[in-house]
Amino acid sequence: MSEEKYLVDIRHEQLSFFTSAGEVKALNDVSIRMKEGEVLGIVGESGSGKSVTAYSIMGLTAQNGRIVGGSVEFNGHRIDEMKEKELRKIRGSEVSIIFQDPMTSLNPVWTVGNQIEESIRLHTEKRGAEVRKRARELLELVGINEPEKRLGQYPHELSGGMRQRVMIAIALACEPKLLIADEPTTALDVTIQAQILELMQDLKKKLGMGIIMITHDLGVVASMCDNIAVMYAGEIVEYGTTDDIFYRPMHEYTKGLLRSIPKFHEKDYERLIPIEGQPVDLLNPPKGCGFAPRCQSCMKICLAKKPPRTDFDGLHYSRCWLLQKEEFLKNREGELSHV
Ligand SMILES: Nc1ncnc2c1ncn2[C@@H]1O[C@H](COP(=O)(O)OP(=O)(O)OP(=O)(O)O)[C@@H](O)[C@H]1O
Ligand code: SF4
Ligand SMILES: [Mg+2]
Repeated sequence: MSEEKYLVDIRHEQLSFFTSAGEVKALNDVSIRMKEGEVLGIVGESGSGKSVTAYSIMGLTAQNGRIVGGSVEFNGHRIDEMKEKELRKIRGSEVSIIFQDPMTSLNPVWTVGNQIEESIRLHTEKRGAEVRKRARELLELVGINEPEKRLGQYPHELSGGMRQRVMIAIALACEPKLLIADEPTTALDVTIQAQILELMQDLKKKLGMGIIMITHDLGVVASMCDNIAVMYAGEIVEYGTTDDIFYRPMHEYTKGLLRSIPKFHEKDYERLIPIEGQPVDLLNPPKGCGFAPRCQSCMKICLAKKPPRTDFDGLHYSRCWLLQKEEFLKNREGELSHV
């Protein structure tokens, strides 16, 4: 049987940053598989490794960073083995990214038209009047009215939501196979956030490209992702379909994240439970489960050994000692007693 083809196939990736204070182990054994046209949500708190994971698919890692183990494959390319010059060809042609804050990504002294047209010329064969026509089409595609007028305007003349739409138009100029959206709605107010998410869903249907949605808020990804990877301290602690994560969460951190999603009834708002405690220091990562210092179910074994992966139906898996029933049955009561 031939092996299934994936748009993204990350296997046991380990990525470290080398700083004057020591080695920051930002990713530890991260594996992700995504098929064409799939929407993956990467969820986790600040510093958990969401951006570093997604950027490594584009071969984008800070100067002091290096993949020290595993492999990263995208669209048939072994990204971790490629040179910067080859990587540059892939970025913006096969994979694009939209960032959190469109104001810092758009050039303030260029018109919207200049910036979209530049991207079209750079990544497609289109030239002359074709370029302008495509720029207009892209603005229409991302739901901007009066596209001809907008093409002549500067970023500061547009609202935040509209600037984010322009960023999306630029990212789509090359018709990428994968669009990475790194917290694309965080800098926007709630109503505009909802509109941008709606737009992304619409684009997914129309263009059929793969999307990685990065967010610290599980609520944001609920409506549009096929699968969700929950990250904690540089590891994927739970992975599954959106239904698995929302209706059958297995990891204590995922359960905590679900409890911290605001609900719409006033009573539920009162019961909103934040996850207490400090994130892990990746310069001195713990021997055992990274979530142990914040976990109310922490056992002795959690402090001593990394929890292995437990697989459930389909794609669903999690890493938590509570799920290792066989270990429980071995009657290792000393290790399993609560701390
Ligand atoms: N150039 C760098 N040098 C040293 N450490 C870095 C560097 N870039 C990232 N890191 C560290 O790697 C870890 C993962 O960072 P990453 O940016 O992926 O987090 P994130 O989950 O995207 O967080 P946020 O929600 O804040 O964007 C963090 O602990 C971060 O401090
Ligand atoms: S392995 Fe232990 S500390 Fe980690 S989440 Fe599971 S119970 Fe909590
Ligand atoms: Mg980030």
